[in-house]
Amino acid sequence: MEWRGAAVQNVGMTAAALPLIAIDGPSGVGKSTTAKRVAARLGWQYLDTGAMYRAAALALHRAGVDLTERAALESVLARLDLSLNEGRTYLAGEDVSEAIRGQEVTRLVTPVSADARVREVLVDQQRRIGDRGRWVVDGRDIGTVVFTRACCKVFLTASPEARAQRRYRELQAKGQSPDFEAVLADLQRRDLADSTRAASPLRKAEDATELDSSDMSLDQVVDWIVARHQAHP
Ligand code: DC
Repeated sequence: MEWRGAAVQNVGMTAAALPLIAIDGPSGVGKSTTAKRVAARLGWQYLDTGAMYRAAALALHRAGVDLTERAALESVLARLDLSLNEGRTYLAGEDVSEAIRGQEVTRLVTPVSADARVREVLVDQQRRIGDRGRWVVDGRDIGTVVFTRACCKVFLTASPEARAQRRYRELQAKGQSPDFEAVLADLQRRDLADSTRAASPLRKAEDATELDSSDMSLDQVVDWIVARHQAHP
């Protein structure tokens, strides 16, 4: 697993700062692409926590477990053999990187990620990963819950219309014929679910800096985060 090989230990850091950049924000804002690019620029590692929730949703789906079946859920979580390496996601050694991006998992992951027990297990794994080395981590609760001591916290936003426009163009580039209103409605549904759930709802950490990327290019966003980090390392 990628994190087992992390060479740098955070020895000597003050309790106030972990060498970790937390990038939180709503769906479709470009967090993963941005975080990957920031990590490459700094020579840090990248952790995609959304991929972990997606892999957990896939594991539960394959096991035929409903979230109401608590004993079965616990059993799947206890056996969850999840690893991330070189940008790929593995379940019990099987590469599930494509499967977790499919429509079925995208639909199932919203309720799975709202489950407090699922979050407890995955947050624990995320902390064990991020505790060693230098990381750029993206998600919904990284600055508020998982790594409250991150040295740099960014809350990346863009208007729903700007995010839907980007998603619409991505789908077109893949040869699909999306309906803009449907893409927008899906994003708004996910925004509402992520920000109103009881367990770790999406919100800006008090010490995070908000960046509205509606009118910015990817390069500008990456430059802004790297500059922000270098100004307050
Ligand atoms: O970023 P993404 O679309 O791959 O995330 C998949 C789902 O997991 C989405 O419903 C939000 C949720 N998620 C979360 O609740 N907390 C995180 N730290 C990361 C993702």
